[in-house]
Amino acid sequence: MAKTKDYGIGEFDFPRGWFMIADSEEVTVKPEPVRFFGRDFVLYRGNSGKVHLLDAYCPHMGAHLAINTTSYVVRDGQHVEGDSIRCPYHAWRFGPDGKCDDIPYYDKIPAAACVRSWPIVEQNGVIFVWHDPENGAPEFDVPYIDEWDDPSWVRWKIDRLGTLASHPQEVLDNMSDISHFKPTHGSKEVSYFENEYDGHTMVQYFGAGHRTLTTGEELLELKTWYDGPGILRSRMWGHLPSIMMIAHTPVDDGVIKVWHSLMVKSPHEVANTQDVAVARAYQEASRLAFAQDFEVWANKRPAINILQLPVDGPFHKGRIWYSQFYNPRAKAAEIQKRVNGVHVSKPRSSLGRAA
Ligand code: FES
Ligand SMILES: [Fe+2]
Repeated sequence: MAKTKDYGIGEFDFPRGWFMIADSEEVTVKPEPVRFFGRDFVLYRGNSGKVHLLDAYCPHMGAHLAINTTSYVVRDGQHVEGDSIRCPYHAWRFGPDGKCDDIPYYDKIPAAACVRSWPIVEQNGVIFVWHDPENGAPEFDVPYIDEWDDPSWVRWKIDRLGTLASHPQEVLDNMSDISHFKPTHGSKEVSYFENEYDGHTMVQYFGAGHRTLTTGEELLELKTWYDGPGILRSRMWGHLPSIMMIAHTPVDDGVIKVWHSLMVKSPHEVANTQDVAVARAYQEASRLAFAQDFEVWANKRPAINILQLPVDGPFHKGRIWYSQFYNPRAKAAEIQKRVNGVHVSKPRSSLGRAA
């Protein structure tokens, strides 16, 4: 298992950006332990409905704020009160800002009685956290998918794909990889393939016939982009218009957690039960296509150096783009300047619906 240092992409082990940490359905008023970026957290939904992520270990004596079933704090239903969480050990209580707001047996709260609270956004059925090794505030938003509120679209039901012992660099390389579509995914000849780098986003424009997802000469067309280092979205024009999200988040250095999901447009103003069934089947076909990449990643050795052919796609540029998130913010603009623009592997024709 290779680590960030092995790829030489920057000084931080974990990148800066928005990352998925759960889907909305999983997060309830029952605190859950989660682990990302090499650290442990407690994740819970306050009684207001808002989701909170705090560092897991109590500053008093280090108890885990989530993992407990036997303490009377938990058994008596005092674990979450309002939007605060009570430590199972001596019942100190912490607000959603991470500051201790009650010690039941003492009335002076020490200034150091706090845990770190992390910026959370819940949208499109996903819980995102902002992670920054320099502790800075978010420098961009997670774009909202407006189709979420359009009743003609069937919302996704997120596939939890579990953990993968692979460095995220291997996943990012896929954005540049023009040569794997035919052998791995069953595409026909690739008609066009371009990569566009623009600040914290990287876009891939892809058009090709497909053995199963389109018929005749029709192209399967994708506009796929990363908003920062961990969230991939894709607008797909194939059998049915759809929007895919693939999210991956570092758990430890060289290990990631992965999710897949797909929203599908129905032919009706309001999607009906039949449309939902069609969308679920289409999402499953999309998941199986992603599983073709996933299986390779799960079993490959790390591609620290790529034995690159000139026609293989701009891996090098993609890695430079990705390195902006592993280096101090102050260096990001300079890194972006090195790659901003369009790399054309095969030019887009006028056919491009994602133009
Ligand atoms: S260890 Fe948490 S209150 Fe004592
Ligand atoms: Fe792929």
